[in-house]
Amino acid sequence: MEYRTLKPFPNGFLWGASTSAFQCEGAYNEDGKKPSSMELRPVPENLASFKDTVDHYHRFKEDIALMAEMGFKAYRFSITWTRIIPDGIGPVNQKAIDHYNEVINECLKYGIKPIVTLYHFDTPADLDKKFGGWDSREMIDAFSNYCTVCFKEFGDRVKYWTTNNEYNSFVMEIIFDADKSPFASNLHPFKTKSEQIKYAAQCAHYKLVAESKVIGICQKMWPDAKIGPTVNTPPAYAASSKPEDQIAVMDSDALTNYYYLDVACKGKYNRLCWRFLEDNDAIPDDITQQDMEIIKNNNANLISVNYYFPKTVEAATLQDETRGMQMSNDGGKDDMTTFVLSGVYKGVRNQNLEVSEYGMEQDAIGMRVVLDRLYDRYELPLIITENGCGCPDELTDDGKIHDTYRIDFLRDMIKQCQLAINDGSDLIGYCPWSAMDLISTHQGIRKRYGFIYVDRTDTDIKECKRIPKDSFYWYQNVIKTNGKEL
Ligand code: BG6
Repeated sequence: MEYRTLKPFPNGFLWGASTSAFQCEGAYNEDGKKPSSMELRPVPENLASFKDTVDHYHRFKEDIALMAEMGFKAYRFSITWTRIIPDGIGPVNQKAIDHYNEVINECLKYGIKPIVTLYHFDTPADLDKKFGGWDSREMIDAFSNYCTVCFKEFGDRVKYWTTNNEYNSFVMEIIFDADKSPFASNLHPFKTKSEQIKYAAQCAHYKLVAESKVIGICQKMWPDAKIGPTVNTPPAYAASSKPEDQIAVMDSDALTNYYYLDVACKGKYNRLCWRFLEDNDAIPDDITQQDMEIIKNNNANLISVNYYFPKTVEAATLQDETRGMQMSNDGGKDDMTTFVLSGVYKGVRNQNLEVSEYGMEQDAIGMRVVLDRLYDRYELPLIITENGCGCPDELTDDGKIHDTYRIDFLRDMIKQCQLAINDGSDLIGYCPWSAMDLISTHQGIRKRYGFIYVDRTDTDIKECKRIPKDSFYWYQNVIKTNGKEL
């Protein structure tokens, strides 16, 4: 719909930006912290590792002061499990409690609301070794004990929580292409595709039960808090007007997004996903009555949305073999359209969309589509916790970073957020990726997302000096005018 007049962004809209601990904190073995599996993952020599990153652990005051200068109303960051409980289970590390108290209080000092993610890909390495990661029921209690510590220590001041970052990407990676998944560390050798899907579904089940359990714990301890999952939510578009391709759209939205969100928000498994698992002989062996009660009785009251790009799909037959996206592992270009899920859908390159240097299709309208689809389905408040386009920025001779491409990208996205609000979706905030530059999950530091430039390269950490980019000043004015001036 094209509107004649537009409603403005609501008062109190949470303008801000996001980071995740393993991509920006560094200090991976300081003050009692033990490593997560992400930090130990081998990284090609030409790319920055996750051990020192951009030193946010030591420089959080400087970083938060810059966020305050931009006018942030919210800062979404993650807490590291292995700082709080270094072994994953067992004694709590007081130094970590002190550290995150300081981070939270620093935000509040400037009127910035902390939005805390409890888990952003960083499983404690010791638990991966001990239990085989999320392929174990033991992880449910381990995770909920860790989260309970966070709610107890920080819940008086943190009123927005997100449980798991993009667990759906992790599961789909295993289903598509176990060997290449950048998120999985302890995968079993699979004899059949059905075994591989079942493994992914069992991990997902433990993760989803753990998620529902901690949602319940938080709501009981802090009834005024909002808590929910973070899902990477590419909306599907049909590759053609063929009716078969509309079915592929339904299946793609279900398997990519609703699988996880229906459990967290509606308290039940999505029926299409369940049929997909049944038909692939992949229903997890270990699902108890008690698990289903936990899922049914503890539902999210917030959905945290990560939107980067859409998926254009056509129907696949059972003769089409499953395969994944082609993700670069040396800092090169990805191809996000090569995926095929046998009998369900295949990706198609959308000729209406431009592609970034790193291979991401760029589509601002997808933002409106996904927000409206999610609000129609769940009628829960939505917050954007990630959105952005990674680009190699240049520090020019004038000592600045003229990132007009980032401003253009974000402006288009914010316009679509406003349209979604006008469509009636309850969008409460916009926190794009990322507050400052940090290390990409698989493409080093050359691929940058931040409003604040961090002066380091993949091979030379230098002093990690912070420099506001042009987008910093543009976003400052967007926030000052509550989105009126874009
Ligand atoms: C999201 C993740 O999927 O994408 C972030 O939650 C990640 O951790 C972001 O950094 C951008 O992707 P990438 O691969 O460029 O770092």
